[in-house]
Amino acid sequence: MAKKIFIQLAFILFLLTSCQTKSDKEFTVWIGGAPQEIDFWQKLIDDYNRQSGNNAILVRQPTYTDQRRQSLIISLEAKQPNPDLFLMDVVWIDQFAKSNWLEPLNKYIERDNYSTDNFFGRVINSVDKFEGNIYALPVFMDIGLLYYRKDLLKKYGFSAPPQTWKQLVDEAVLIQKKERERNKNFNGFVWQGAQYEGLICNFLEFITSHGGSVMNNGKIWSNTPANVEALKFMHDLLYKYKISPPNTFTEIKEEEVRRSFQNGNALFERNWTYAWNQHQSSGSSVKGKIGIAQLPHKEGFGSTSALGGWHVGMSEYSDVKNEAWDFIKFITSFKTQEKLLLNVGWNPGRKDVYHDSVLLNQIPRLKILYEVFNHSVSRPVIPYYAQVSEAMQRYVNNCLANKISPADALKELQKQINKVTAIYEEH
Ligand code: GLC
Repeated sequence: MAKKIFIQLAFILFLLTSCQTKSDKEFTVWIGGAPQEIDFWQKLIDDYNRQSGNNAILVRQPTYTDQRRQSLIISLEAKQPNPDLFLMDVVWIDQFAKSNWLEPLNKYIERDNYSTDNFFGRVINSVDKFEGNIYALPVFMDIGLLYYRKDLLKKYGFSAPPQTWKQLVDEAVLIQKKERERNKNFNGFVWQGAQYEGLICNFLEFITSHGGSVMNNGKIWSNTPANVEALKFMHDLLYKYKISPPNTFTEIKEEEVRRSFQNGNALFERNWTYAWNQHQSSGSSVKGKIGIAQLPHKEGFGSTSALGGWHVGMSEYSDVKNEAWDFIKFITSFKTQEKLLLNVGWNPGRKDVYHDSVLLNQIPRLKILYEVFNHSVSRPVIPYYAQVSEAMQRYVNNCLANKISPADALKELQKQINKVTAIYEEH
């Protein structure tokens, strides 16, 4: 009997939840990232709901970009009304727009006289527009940075962070050797080498700072002497200089790198802007001991940084588009962007935040962030980027795993890229 009642109750509950429609002012926002970042989003969303009388609901996504993309694609392909809003990695927008998953924002922008001049023209024009329409707006811009231990550099007689890769290697080899006498887990340089999108950002930085490139005359390029040299350098960091952990290619992503540096186990770290606030938080063993700088470059070339970042888009299938647009205005407002910078250390998507004199005084590193942003390089902006990236991830990671030489990896990769390009350009 009890079992029967339980089954009936479960059935009623199922009916109630499956028929549930969103109330007028309710909408979902799907956001992922490091756990602390998502916690801060919850606070922002609570503020928004209090101010607006709308009911935005945060749906927590995974930490890493590849899984976030997968979970969004499943809902969008099924034309689900959820999510209404989501953050998109800068490299997805072309594909999402081409697939007709995104609501064009032009009519809301025009209706509300909303100014897009507050954003960086080069970003809006190259990634947020597709065939003349605006499909997304920048929430924050990511850039790859070099984090370094000021205290350790000083202890070993270095007055400034390294400017060239050679300096980085020399300093890391020396300091790692000494520091390992008391901490066997200490590494000279940690960066993202696992087989995922983050590896491509690192690869892009290594190749462009060696004078290489991924785009040449509108074609995607991998097999050039400068690119091979850069990949060999990445390989050398693990096997020749031995200043990067041997498991770099198996599991090391942003959070692994952040934790290792934050626990005092690394001299140099390549990471995005979000790591700063966490390193400087109470409880961090490197609080007050760190600096940030542009990533090093090969002698004779310049520093570069991969342009990352997250942009907000609205689903074509949302049934509460006006409320969703209201939330977009909220998160791209000066006030919210300022809060994101102060609390999670994100590089604002709006230009006016970088020029605000009060903020510049309060956060001196804003000047460095702006300079690095000006030297940032984009990944190819194409609708089939995910397929190209997947091929790159495989070959670059296989080389780091010592399964293929740098020259052969890039030769084979070029063949794959040509194949993928031919398939997609035909359509
Ligand atoms: C960061 C960047 C994003 C990049 C990702 C790679 O989240 O903002 O653009 O694709 O890292 O892991």
